[in-house]
Amino acid sequence: MPRFPDISPYAHAVSHRVYSTLAERARAKNDVIYPLHVGDTYRDPIVEARAERQLSSEHTGLHKYAPVQGEPALIEAFLEFVARRHEVSLDRDCVQVMSGATPGLNVVTQVLLEPGDEVLLPSPFWPLSRGVIATKGAVPVQIPFYTRLDEPDLDAEALLESKVTERTVALYINTPNNPTGRVVSEQVVDAMFRVAKRHDLWVLCDEAYEEIYFGPTAPKAVWKHPDVRDRAIVFHTLSKTFGLAGARIGFTHGPKSVMTAIRGMQTFQTYCAPRPMQFGAIQALRHGAPWVAESRAHYEAAGRKAASALGVPAPDGGTFLFADVSALLRPDDHDCMPLLERCADRGVLITPGRSCGEHYPRWVRLCFTAVPPAQLDEALERIAPLFRAPS
Ligand SMILES: Cc1ncc(COP(=O)(O)O)c(C=O)c1O
Repeated sequence: MPRFPDISPYAHAVSHRVYSTLAERARAKNDVIYPLHVGDTYRDPIVEARAERQLSSEHTGLHKYAPVQGEPALIEAFLEFVARRHEVSLDRDCVQVMSGATPGLNVVTQVLLEPGDEVLLPSPFWPLSRGVIATKGAVPVQIPFYTRLDEPDLDAEALLESKVTERTVALYINTPNNPTGRVVSEQVVDAMFRVAKRHDLWVLCDEAYEEIYFGPTAPKAVWKHPDVRDRAIVFHTLSKTFGLAGARIGFTHGPKSVMTAIRGMQTFQTYCAPRPMQFGAIQALRHGAPWVAESRAHYEAAGRKAASALGVPAPDGGTFLFADVSALLRPDDHDCMPLLERCADRGVLITPGRSCGEHYPRWVRLCFTAVPPAQLDEALERIAPLFRAPS
């Protein structure tokens, strides 16, 4: 059936203009803007990993295509990273270099999902995860979850189980979590994976914040769980861990059978990740550990400061806070926009909770690593009074 001049309904489902409207409002009233809605870091990556350090004289054909699977030396460096960090020896055939976790998830959902399939999407979630699933015509089944982890009577297994239907194909898990900053306990992970196993679901493990944890020890990677090793497809990215979001380098790994299909699909998507930055990524993986440790300390301090300004608990990891702002809204405000507008009037941009799930219209998300510490202090000073509930 002709569609012109309309576009695909799936594309309609993911377009929105919230940020640009708020940004225009902020710019109209302020010289300095604090973009705490953007999930990024103010820290530059290690010198050896930067774009300007990748030289044609050192890498023949620097700007040519890379192999679809990725530069062999990069795959080697990633295998070493996984062996060091997770004490797992991955089969190199099971690893695919991707242009980040977002394209990784796109390619994987292309391989796994058909229109109408359902994906269990515990919420609140990284906003793009819902969009990626929706663009395939699949249904992200939003389940309020990470904000409920402290409820003494929470039965995580029953909660997920109640949302499984005959169309359910996959479960997506992200810990440390964007946006709540929560690290999911091993007990809850066990419960989630029992459901996945019982119903033969694929498990999509988003490890974007694997290195950004604030507890004394690194949380155990969920994908190592024996119940899901045969069904876990895992997304790593250098964006957060090594401050290389613009480099667009990530890794996907999973069972061999499905990785062959994923590699085939990747050929028709981006073909390969940017070759010059694959060489930068090797440097980050080999020499970036001290930078990662330093960032962790900076981010933890920033997270604590932001949490205290907003009156919410300090995060366990990640780069965001997620706050229930119902008490700061009028009963007839149907979402957090009036508060976001007040923040924008003071030059501070934060994200509406609804971007992270339909059940969170009266919540907001703030990224505490988007600007350097002095600017974060200024931004928090501007908005902290707005977060004090009227007594
Ligand atoms: C949970 C999560 N996964 C993936 C990504 C995107 O990663 P990449 O930059 O590698 O596409 C983000 C970015 O904010 C994220 O929060």
